[in-house]
Amino acid sequence: MSRKVTKAIFPVAGLGTRFLPATKSIPKEIMTLVDRPLIQYAIDEARAAGITEFIFVTSRGKSALEDYFDLAPELETALRQKGKDDMLEMLESTNMADGAIAYIRQHMALGLGHAVWCGRRLIGDEPFAVILPDDVIASDKPCLQQMIEAYEETGGNIVAAMEVPEEKASSYGILATSEDNGVRVKVKGMVEKPEKGTAPSNLAVIGRYILTPAVMNRLNDMKKGAGGEIQLTDAIAAEIDGKDGVYGLRFKGQRFDCGSKAGFLQATVAFGLSRPDLQDEFGEYIDALAASRADAS
Ligand code: G1P
Repeated sequence: MSRKVTKAIFPVAGLGTRFLPATKSIPKEIMTLVDRPLIQYAIDEARAAGITEFIFVTSRGKSALEDYFDLAPELETALRQKGKDDMLEMLESTNMADGAIAYIRQHMALGLGHAVWCGRRLIGDEPFAVILPDDVIASDKPCLQQMIEAYEETGGNIVAAMEVPEEKASSYGILATSEDNGVRVKVKGMVEKPEKGTAPSNLAVIGRYILTPAVMNRLNDMKKGAGGEIQLTDAIAAEIDGKDGVYGLRFKGQRFDCGSKAGFLQATVAFGLSRPDLQDEFGEYIDALAASRADAS
């Protein structure tokens, strides 16, 4: 039986330059999707999948993230005095058990592989999850939970996978597969950000991973890959012929690329429309907007 996955790494050291000037003073993971920061969606998904230890790989200027998961005594006292129990309850999901969250600094932006490697001492000799908070996934069953269930059957390394338009393949890690049952694939090759026209398929890696300690060991090599960065994809690819192998899981759900402005806006509309407290008013607005755009064209 595979070992239980209880630890997750959240690489949150990126500069978020695509969202300047907003990200000049706030970490992009604190940017708000409806009424929760991006990072909260990632944490909720990890908790639902049974993760109990949360490892944040941060960088300078990310202290707002640490404060977000801390107690807010003044705010909590004020809410208590005013009898605002519903709001106090809302804050509960931002509290972490003592010792459940750890922050590690990535001192230099050397790539996603390097960010993950920064968490090696806290991971030790255990399988672990990696969640990229930019990838927000709306689904009935949280994506990481779907992956844990797959992992319980196959063990090994599992990456979340999704078909992307061919012309977008160069923005992703792309899989070459040897077996494919429509849901799960056996991976025989992985390439990070393939040059246009060279992608082995259009099946892309999305930011959810379950990885074996062997991948962490591979990262010790510090080998530079695409863009001159230490790539997680390369360390996973090195394990394809290893003892445990690599699988891709076509998860059920809709992924939003909240690392891009258009993706963030799409997620805002989709999550806004799915919220019972907003869907009437917001839905009317969207319908009217769509109608007026249709009239104008
Ligand atoms: C990272 C990974 C890439 C993956 C992507 C998913 O790239 O390196 O393999 O396909 O996330 O969002 P990034 O978007 O950080 O450039």
